[in-house]
Order: sequence, then structure tokens, then C-alpha cells
Amino acid sequence: MAVNVVILGAGQGKRMHSALPKVLHPLAGKPLLAHVIATARALKPARICVVYGHGGEQVPDALRAPDLVFVKQEPQLGSGHALKQALPHVDQRKDTLVLYGDVPLIAAQTLTALTAGTGERLQILTAEIDDPRGYGRIVRNAKRAITAIVEEKDATDKQCRIREINTGIMLLPGKRLAGWLDQLTNRNVQREYYLTDVVTLALKDRVRVESCAPSDSWEILGVNSKQQLAQLERIYQSRTATRLLEAGVTLADPLRIDVRGELRCGRDVRIDVNCVFEGAVEIGNGAQIGANCVLRNTRVGAATRIEPFSLIDDAAVGKNCRIGPYARIRPGTRLAESVHIGNFVEVKAATIGAGSKANHLAYVGDASVGKRVNIGAGTITCNYDGANKHRTVIEDDVHIGSDVQLVAPVTVGKGATIGAGATITKDTPPGELTVSENRQKVIRGWKRPVKKVRSEE
Ligand code: UD1
Ligand code: CA
Repeated sequence: MAVNVVILGAGQGKRMHSALPKVLHPLAGKPLLAHVIATARALKPARICVVYGHGGEQVPDALRAPDLVFVKQEPQLGSGHALKQALPHVDQRKDTLVLYGDVPLIAAQTLTALTAGTGERLQILTAEIDDPRGYGRIVRNAKRAITAIVEEKDATDKQCRIREINTGIMLLPGKRLAGWLDQLTNRNVQREYYLTDVVTLALKDRVRVESCAPSDSWEILGVNSKQQLAQLERIYQSRTATRLLEAGVTLADPLRIDVRGELRCGRDVRIDVNCVFEGAVEIGNGAQIGANCVLRNTRVGAATRIEPFSLIDDAAVGKNCRIGPYARIRPGTRLAESVHIGNFVEVKAATIGAGSKANHLAYVGDASVGKRVNIGAGTITCNYDGANKHRTVIEDDVHIGSDVQLVAPVTVGKGATIGAGATITKDTPPGELTVSENRQKVIRGWKRPVKKVRSEE
């Protein structure tokens, strides 16, 4: 049965030492809260409600979506008080699952198990951990039944030694929710309305209190500091690397890859060390990515080689291409098959046809380049007149010599050759050699300047 999901995230996160609300800090390129929302969506819930508080409207502004209800909690009087703010927005005929915006790795599989049971019950996700410090402890009686959750600050020494902790994640029965939240008090050391006190209320109402454990221990880890954020990032990345290896991708070192988005690879893809993949990246069969490359929202065709230190952003690279080392491919670039883009070449908003090459030190921006074109070293498309951008068209089979400036808008006709060093301001005829006046002359008798010797006093 579909549940309501309420994600708590109003806390400040003091130990992050940041102006950004804690739940907006990025893990693998997206806010902590976005991970929890994605997992919540996988459960196909009746509602998703996000409780926010600290940092003004930054949280709803960053994550607004038609299926999310954002509720402000102000002031923040505890986890029970936080859940109460969401009450008007949940369907009270259905059970409510409480998640935390700062516990981002919780897996849908665990939550499916947690919500799977039937009948009226309070279901708590608990875990046995070696170092339970800081967590609420699960107190059980001789029959192993849960009798309470005590916060560490309220716990006796004996209770502090309990290693079973409250992860915070729980499923509350729909019909009881409003009544229980009304009965919470702040009579405790922290003067907060503790959500955990629902255990006592459930027992009083003779509602079953049950627990289950996460599929993997790291799922319940929370982020309270930059240190923990970094630890969770490593856990996330190492799991992503494992999945890539399992799918047959060759990683030079699974500890040195960062995927901040969705990376899809074909067969026999090889990825060298220190590559970063952002957004949606797709790599075709047999393609190779050299060390230290950054690929963002990019498609790479089969058998293409991206050499080290290349940056490719929002582009499509065809099959059998050779890119880099040290290439910069900027948004809106479309490379057909067998294109070569060499070192220190920048390409922006350009389409380049099959078999064309720009091997050294060039800028190709706002351009349409045909097939089998050779762009010489140091060639620049002068696309910007200081106010507007203009396009350069280079037709098939053109050969452009070194150090040419193509002042856009301009078209180089099919099969044309442009002499080295030319400045092209007008369209050039197809099939012909065009040069621009830059005649060599000798200045006879010219002397190189000589370094002045400072005269001693
Ligand atoms: C809570 C649990 C504790 C559990 C631990 C797991 C309570 C009383 N205690 O303790 O048993 O072991 O989480 O990490 O629930 N929040 C709000 N509004 C508030 C207070 C909190 O939205 O007024 C949110 C926070 O943003 C956070 C979560 O609730 O995401 C937990 O709050 P926190 O103050 O960190 O509770 P803990 O003391 O860690
Ligand atoms: Ca906490």
C-alpha cells in the first residue's frame, strides 16, 4: 500500500560551518536532499513532503517539483515538532514513512522491506553499530521487545552501553499519527519534541512496535560535518565503481574515478585514473578515456579515444575520433566520426564533419565544418565582433594553412585552400587557393638592440 513520505531537513547543520543549508550540500554532484527525494520516489508514495527551516527559501528554491510539498518549520523545536508541521499535507488513511534529508544513502530496497508488513504497527529502522555515540538507543525488555528509544543526553550509563541505535527512519500508522504527535511533550534534557517518544505512545495504545535492519550498514549514515560528507562521498563513489566493474568496464583504479550523475558504458570501455563524469554521460563500445579527463553531459562514440587532460562539456563525439590530449570541447559541439581534435584546440558550438582534423592550437567556435577538412595549427575563427557572434562555414575538403584568421560571418568554399597566415574576411571561392597579402621583405642593415651596460660611477 502506498505510504506518505515525510523528509525532515529543517536542522541547521552547525558543524558544516556553512551558509548553505545542510541538506543542500552536494554528494556526487547533487544535494543530499535530492538523493533522499529520488529514493522516496522509487517507492511510488502517495505524497512526498519536505520539512525545511534553516536558510530561508533556499531548499524549496533548489528542489521545487510538482510532486513535492515543502513545509516550513519555524522555529525548530525537535523531530516530533517537525513531523507535526507536515501533518496537514499527509493522507492520514495511509501510513507515514519518516526519512531524513541528511541521511542520503538510504536504499529503496531497505525502505521497501520496512514498509512491507501489514496491520497497524510502528516500524523502526534500527542498527547495531560499534560506536553508538550520539544516537538514540533502542531499549528492549527480557523478551527482546522494544520498550523505548532514549536519546543519549537523557540516557543512563547502562543505556549508553546499548549498541542498537535508532536510525531515525520509521513508519507510523496513519490513524494514530495525529493523536500521537499531539501528545508529544518537550519534557527532556534538550527541551525538544522528540519523535522517538511515539514508542511509549504506541505501547500505551497497544500498537505493535517492530524493528528491521538496513540491507547495508552504510545506508543509515548521516551527514553532520564536512568529514562525514567526504566519507559518504567515498562510499558512494566506491559503490558506483563496483557497479561499473561488474558491468564489464575496465577501471585503471576503482578508487580514482568520480561519477556525479549517470554514466552509461558500452562493452570494453577503458577508463584511466582521475576522470570525472558529470550529468548524463554515455560511452560507446570500445572507447577509451585517458587519465584526468572531465566529461559532462556528453556522448562518446564507439572506439573513440579521449587522450589525457581533455575537458568535454555538453557535446557529442562520434565514433573512431581522437580527442586530446589537452582538448577543450565546449557546449553545442557535434563531432562526426573519425574526427581528430588535438592538443590545445578549443571547439565551441561547432559541427565538424567526418574525417576532419584540427590537430594543434586552434579555436573553432560557432562553425560548421564539412568532411575531410584540415584546420592548420593556430587557426582561429574570429566569431565575435565585440557585440555579436557570427558563424563560419568551412565546406568539405578544405585545407586551411597554419595561423589563419577566419573573420565571421564567412564561408570557405568546397575544396578551397587557404594560405598560411591569411586573414579571411570575405567568402573564398571553391577549389582555389586564397592568400592574404603578407609579403616577405628584407630590412637591410637593421641591427638587433644591444643590452645597455650600466656605467659605474
Ligand atoms: C535523532 C533521533 C535519534 C537518532 C538520530 C539518528 C530524535 C529525538 N532523535 O537524533 O534517536 O538516533 O536522529 O541520526 O528524533 N529536524 C528537523 N526539525 C527539528 C529537529 C530536527 O527537521 O526541529 C531534522 C534534522 O534536520 C535532521 C533530523 O531531523 O535531519 C534529526 O535531527 P537531529 O537534531 O539531528 O536529531 P538527533 O539529535 O541526531
Ligand atoms: Ca543528527
